[in-house]
Amino acid sequence: MKAKIALLPGDGIGVEVAGEAVKVLSAVAAKFGHEFEFNEGIVGGTAIDQTGTALPDETLRLCESSDAILFGAVGGPKWDIPSAKARPEQGILGLRKHFDLFANLRPVKAYPALAQHTPLRADLLEGVDMLFVRELTGGIYFGARQEQGDGDTAFDTEVYSVPEVERVVHVAFRAAQGRRKKLASIDKFNILASSRLWRSTVMKVHEDYSDVALEHILIDACTMHLITRPASFDVLVASNMFGDIITDEASVLAGSLGMLPSASLGASKFGLYEPIHGTAPDIAGQGKANPTGSILSAAMMLRYSFGLEAEADAVERAVDGALAAGARTADIAPRGGAHKGQFISTAEYTAAVLANL
Ligand code: IPM
Ligand code: MG
Repeated sequence: MKAKIALLPGDGIGVEVAGEAVKVLSAVAAKFGHEFEFNEGIVGGTAIDQTGTALPDETLRLCESSDAILFGAVGGPKWDIPSAKARPEQGILGLRKHFDLFANLRPVKAYPALAQHTPLRADLLEGVDMLFVRELTGGIYFGARQEQGDGDTAFDTEVYSVPEVERVVHVAFRAAQGRRKKLASIDKFNILASSRLWRSTVMKVHEDYSDVALEHILIDACTMHLITRPASFDVLVASNMFGDIITDEASVLAGSLGMLPSASLGASKFGLYEPIHGTAPDIAGQGKANPTGSILSAAMMLRYSFGLEAEADAVERAVDGALAAGARTADIAPRGGAHKGQFISTAEYTAAVLANL
């Protein structure tokens, strides 16, 4: 098949990891006889520096004429000025909103090869394989706010409508049907009105999916259960903000924040694919970043936007193979033993993945 991919590397290690995903996609194209055309656009802090805005029109047009977006990461201390009107994050939020990419899929699994790396006991990690479905275009991220407090107060608003909750919850129930048929819905029902609307909507939608076991779980309790019984979860669905927070926590189960990919989808096959991590200014430009999250995001692109299931599986297996063979970037470097602290570069890691493809 032929596909046009908008490549938006962004800032910091976003540039490094997106480049590695391009290598993997190119290898897949060569191996399976596909044609992927990459066209690069600027976004985030880099775009602010060049144009004054985090999401230039030209970048938006490029994305509109593409089949999928491969996104790196945006942000950095350089642009962290509280009074600034233009913020790098407006680049990614603008894309999510513009394309109505309301469902953000974030799969999390524990890698046997990294079991000794996480701070959790290996027995707790056995069988950990879950999918977070994060609402991505609503809630407090997009609610009314006082942009700049010139006085003593500032506010943000968590707003959800029934249709907004329904559509993302349908995605979660359907995902659960294709997996172990369990859904955990995360909220703060005991305090927030928006969470009560969330929960009653989830209960209503559940009527269409009687084969799926539903559990409601409060966000505070969920942060604990994620550590004490991670293997018990299958699909979890959460609001924009709760989903953002809980998936960073969940990345510990996978061994590192650098491991997690994501797919942001709307009503069509078009999607945006990005690792869940940020720009890691502390290691940017050093060739140390873990490209797994970006490479696995590319696999999700193959699966969800292009319908290339076998190719997606091949990339995922290649990552498993590289990890099993001992490929380790700094963030997942061994903690003890003869190889303590030894790691390979971003490019060497990708080479190990490609060797297993
Ligand atoms: C994420 C990130 C973003 C978010 C930032 C960069 C805007 O943390 O994708 O999880 O908060 O959604
Ligand atoms: Mg986040």
